[in-house]
Amino acid sequence: MSNPAPLVDPFQRAISYLRVSVTDRCDFRCVYCMSENMTFLPKKELLTLEELDRMCSAFVRLGVSKLRITGGEPLVRREIMTFFRSMSRHLDSGALEELTLTTNGSQLSRFADDLFAAGVRRVNVSLDTLDEDKFARVTRWGRLPQVLKGIDAAQAAGLRVKINVVALKGFNEEELFSLADWCASRDMDLTFIEVMPMGDLGGEDRVGQYWSLDDLQAQLASRFTLTDLPERTGGPARYVRVEETGQKIGLITPLTHNFCESCNRVRLTCTGELFMCLGQEDNADLRSALRGSEADAPLEEAIRRAISLKPKGHDFDYSRQKADGQVSRHMSHTGG
Ligand code: 5AD
Ligand code: SF4
Repeated sequence: MSNPAPLVDPFQRAISYLRVSVTDRCDFRCVYCMSENMTFLPKKELLTLEELDRMCSAFVRLGVSKLRITGGEPLVRREIMTFFRSMSRHLDSGALEELTLTTNGSQLSRFADDLFAAGVRRVNVSLDTLDEDKFARVTRWGRLPQVLKGIDAAQAAGLRVKINVVALKGFNEEELFSLADWCASRDMDLTFIEVMPMGDLGGEDRVGQYWSLDDLQAQLASRFTLTDLPERTGGPARYVRVEETGQKIGLITPLTHNFCESCNRVRLTCTGELFMCLGQEDNADLRSALRGSEADAPLEEAIRRAISLKPKGHDFDYSRQKADGQVSRHMSHTGG
């Protein structure tokens, strides 16, 4: 097959990174992500594992070189290792540079070795607190020891672990330094994420609320010398180095606009909608194109059409009233 033209959006951004949600389900109910009683999608709405394979393979043919599998919790999808194993052929061929996932860690002790065998080398584990009771409160259904066991298993399997912490005012503020120390002592990367106005945040049982990462960084700077690092990954993360320890800490501020111009990513939901921007509702139905034909050309055409609609940037803003820039879908739908 000839080499197709790579995906480039109208603002000359090359799309090389696809995030794929493989399920909207999760074994946790984090307060900022889901409501207690979630109604999940009926099975027939979901892309099958074979369809996910076709979809991802089409993106890889069009030049996507990094694939991140998300959810919900990706590792609760039945037979998901079949999908990981099948994606590893794109690593073997060299078309894909990285196959990775974001997980809550609950199933990692079961799957860490299989993930490594499929070519996964790094995982992001979401973990907001090292206090067992607080963990139970923020995840509603989660148990910390199980996640810690999962992280042990991941490291033992040879996976590099990054811990993602959602910064929540009045909840994990006082754990800033203990989380940083813990990650440094286990040689794990650490990234703080500003909580986004999605799902139920602001509901009655909110555990924490918006904690600006500028403030978080100022608190870090009260104890450490921080150097801003120039590296960007095409996403909302920026990095600082703690000079005293050499530790690199990531800060994800999705509410600021200043990374949109280098955005290299799109997000596929588990039902086959493509979201061109995390902060906007515009999406393209790729499932119809996929199910409408056994040939891949119509799907590739639909992908190109969608990318040609990628907006310039997003418009979250806490300072304005609700509707403005607020995204009503849950994070488990677009997958973080
Ligand atoms: N704001 C910020 N991050 C969120 N996540 C889920 N919901 C939100 C939100 N409202 C994060 C989780 C995890 C990933 C799946 O998405 O903490 O890191
Ligand atoms: Fe599940 Fe992650 Fe959402 Fe928590 S944040 S409910 S672990 S998908």
